[in-house]
Amino acid sequence: MSALPESVLEEIRELPAKYPQPRSAVMPALDLAQEEVGYLTPEAMSEVAAALDLDPGYVEGVATFYTLFHLQPIGRHRFYVCTNLSCSLRGSSAIVEHVKGAIGVREAGDVSKDGLFSYEEVECLGACEYAPMMRLDHEYHYDLTAQTITALVAERRAPLSAAAKASRSRARVPSPPRGEGQGEGRGPKKRAPRTKNIG
Ligand code: FES
Repeated sequence: MSALPESVLEEIRELPAKYPQPRSAVMPALDLAQEEVGYLTPEAMSEVAAALDLDPGYVEGVATFYTLFHLQPIGRHRFYVCTNLSCSLRGSSAIVEHVKGAIGVREAGDVSKDGLFSYEEVECLGACEYAPMMRLDHEYHYDLTAQTITALVAERRAPLSAAAKASRSRARVPSPPRGEGQGEGRGPKKRAPRTKNIG
């Protein structure tokens, strides 16, 4: 039995036409496969390779190189909390603790009992001026507080309308390379730098 439904394979086959280099389609294709299955199984990767007419070893190499591709089961919603310098200086360790408490896991990579959530600590996401920040699924969230995390978790535990599900699930972004800036998501809007109140 096929790991990916025909509708997803069809979407993957159409991807190369959108890029100057057809191989560039591998990342959005893996993203589609991961969203469909939940993580990248060997079968899903090999079907991506076949759909894009690429070498399976190349596809697997891309999947293992990028941190936002997962080869093991993960939560349906993924927190990627930046713990790099700027975020660290502005309290990312407290944010990490709050995420862990809110979703009920002990360590990065653990999946919550209800299967809804997992979290990871990642390198700079390229939005340092908004620290502490994180990516939740495909959205960046800035200037994090414990209240923000609590609200985001509660929102995702609540039943969704069909329209909300569709808008939440179809925005896809490329995954960043391991150990490098990981800020290729829906990036930050420009804003004026923070100012200090003097006197
Ligand atoms: S250090 Fe967190 S976004 Fe750069």
